[in-house]
Amino acid sequence: MEKQQYIDRAEEAFYKVYNRFPVVFGRGEGVCLYDTDGQEYLDFGAGIAVMGLGYSCKELKAAMKEQVDKLCHTSNLFYNVPSIEAGEKLLKVSGMEKVFFTNSGAEAVEGLLKIAKRYAFDRGMAPDYEVIAMRHSFHGRTLGALSVTGNSHYQEPFAPLVPGVRFAVFNDLDSVKAVWSEKTCAVIMETIQGEGGIYPATGEFLAGVRALCDEHHALLLLDEIQCGMARSGHMFAWQGYGVKPDAMSVAKALGNGVPVGAFLAQGKAASAIVPGDHGTTYGGNPFVCAAAAKVLDIYEEKKIVEHVREVGGYLWDRLEEVAGRHGCVQAHRGKGLIQGLEFTDAVAPLVSHALLKEKLVLISAGKNIIRFVPPLIIKKQDVDEMVRRLEASIEAVCMPNL
Ligand SMILES: Cc1ncc(COP(=O)(O)O)c(C=O)c1O
Repeated sequence: MEKQQYIDRAEEAFYKVYNRFPVVFGRGEGVCLYDTDGQEYLDFGAGIAVMGLGYSCKELKAAMKEQVDKLCHTSNLFYNVPSIEAGEKLLKVSGMEKVFFTNSGAEAVEGLLKIAKRYAFDRGMAPDYEVIAMRHSFHGRTLGALSVTGNSHYQEPFAPLVPGVRFAVFNDLDSVKAVWSEKTCAVIMETIQGEGGIYPATGEFLAGVRALCDEHHALLLLDEIQCGMARSGHMFAWQGYGVKPDAMSVAKALGNGVPVGAFLAQGKAASAIVPGDHGTTYGGNPFVCAAAAKVLDIYEEKKIVEHVREVGGYLWDRLEEVAGRHGCVQAHRGKGLIQGLEFTDAVAPLVSHALLKEKLVLISAGKNIIRFVPPLIIKKQDVDEMVRRLEASIEAVCMPNL
């Protein structure tokens, strides 16, 4: 079938919530995607920071196929072996005490918010408690996650949202203090803001918020859905700061394309949730957990964290050169393999030129920022090739505006 026919069918059938590019991908291999016409694209988006191990990872495919032949689902009324294995591995790499598997990132955030509510309830603060969240944050599209997403464009059409949320400025401790009150029971934030434009927390800010939470017996909830799973050069970005949250969320790269997320907690946050408080039909089923357990094994075997540090440093140096050569680049931020270049103009034409003319998959974050979140297995030569195609696109799209 012709590409345009697929696109027409999709536009006819689906709710129009996405502005999709006119590309139909049919296959992936390593760090490349192939469209239904067989054309190869170098992928620096990884399905929005999901495909950490790239496409068509042999060991992962074998583990998934084996589990499909054995058992995909039983419900959480029973135990299953893959979820025990995936859960224990996740606790080991995070240093947390309890885990709950979800089907998506937003659901993992819902879990964090339920921990906060339950904790407030136990302390006699409910229903008048407050959660502090950050401006320009992104935590997902379900109503709870949307309530702590600091973006009025996403929030407004769905008001009223969950009450009791106050917003502070990310990386500004005084602004957190300004909205803090005796009702505050938790602070939620991304360790590195992703959708908001690739803003890593400063060490001072994260340590300051941790200290405030400790002083007032509030919970620190860190969303690691985008920046976690080695992307920052640490298994979880907070590990690079030496600041441990009470609870955290993970998803995206955990299943390398299989929809699975989790929330994890330690100490008082781990004991806040009690039998009957939460549940899910699919969450933590044998199929998704076989994938998650294998992903975690492969990370260890292939020393993915170390690899990200090395190739992430190389990406940093190469993007610094790009920033130095092109006046339309205003800023360069990030860590490991989650980096961003901020441009003077909206980057939509740049992304679309890179994709359609240079066969390079790039994604934006906000209006002016290109986000580099490639598969974590990329090599230095992939970075070189990406830079070549990126610069060709910058020259075609941005230079006339200088
Ligand atoms: C930091 C963060 N939290 C939560 C989410 C929501 O995850 P999902 O789209 O799997 O619901 C995202 C998705 O981009 C994210 O980047």
